[in-house]
Amino acid sequence: MSPLLLPFLLLHIITGAALQLRPGYYSGTCPAAEIIVRDVMKKAFVREPRSLASVMRFQFHDCFVNGCDASMLLDDTPTMLGEKLSLSNINSLRSYEVVDEVKKALEKVCPGVVSCADIIIMAARDAVALSGGPDWEVKLGRLDSLTASQEASDNIMPSPRANATFLIDLFGKFNLSVKDLVALSGSHSIGQGRCFSVMYRLYNQSGTGRPDPAFEPKFREKLYKLCPLNVDQNVTGDLDATPIIFDNQYFMDLDSGRGFLYSDQTLFTCPQTRGFVKQFSIDQGEFFKAYVEGMIKLGDLQIEQPGEIRENCRVANGRPVNTF
Ligand code: HEM
Repeated sequence: MSPLLLPFLLLHIITGAALQLRPGYYSGTCPAAEIIVRDVMKKAFVREPRSLASVMRFQFHDCFVNGCDASMLLDDTPTMLGEKLSLSNINSLRSYEVVDEVKKALEKVCPGVVSCADIIIMAARDAVALSGGPDWEVKLGRLDSLTASQEASDNIMPSPRANATFLIDLFGKFNLSVKDLVALSGSHSIGQGRCFSVMYRLYNQSGTGRPDPAFEPKFREKLYKLCPLNVDQNVTGDLDATPIIFDNQYFMDLDSGRGFLYSDQTLFTCPQTRGFVKQFSIDQGEFFKAYVEGMIKLGDLQIEQPGEIRENCRVANGRPVNTF
């Protein structure tokens, strides 16, 4: 992240109090909202289990960039470069159509009521719960942004090459603790990453021309087979050994040098974060508890800005659809 942006960011990050997020926000205006979201997520799971992970990731990429405002769902327009093509999102974020399906189902029953920003929060929670992880009550009442910023996403979202010290610092700027960082990284208990995200780790870690020494050798061999030098870098591998089950396997894998991303394995290498990795690897209950706390804090991130309830999550209201 550009250091110049930080003061700006800090001034503008506020907590959930501003919009008075609360559980049951739609109980009067759209009582079936949470049931409808879960229902669509269940269908998505049957169609493609990975899509749950892909949608759950939206909460991170939405909330870190100008707060949880569904800005990352906006398509580019002739006058706005949105977040979909930013460095961390291009060729990587996926399953936008699942959110479209949720929105469509909600608009049928209670048009113009439920924000896309809240859909992301509910769907992320449901993705975790439906994959065998914890279930929790979410606070709702967010508004959708009128605009998005590719530049903000480029400046803020961390690279898989980031080390633990950088990540501790970055999460700290969002009032997320070291424990929150480690617990939230446990999101990688489900889903996949591309060879693109691991090539440098396999072939040229930190410019050494060598692989990352933190790899367990057999796991490294497996990744060499998956991602040879001439591979199509969009080929994907599992982020942990149980990629459709939300459990603490991810932490056990880190403990044995089997983390996929450098930004994962670094949490075990670094003494400041290793204790939490160890703890979560032996106590799934502790992981789930810390994870829920982290997700609620992540969902509380907001900035002061005008908002609306979008009719279509990809387009701000009153803008022409598919203009190019
Ligand atoms: C700690 C910093 C983090 C970094 C550096 C990071 C980076 C990444 C990268 C590089 C990928 C693979 C992308 C690809 O190769 O296309 C990925 C996947 C994923 N990330 Fe993260 N991530 C972080 C934290 C988080 C958090 C906080 C969440 C959720 C709250 C999350 C949820 C996910 C999920 C579920 C996937 C798999 C998505 C899929 O299968 O489509 N990540 N992450």
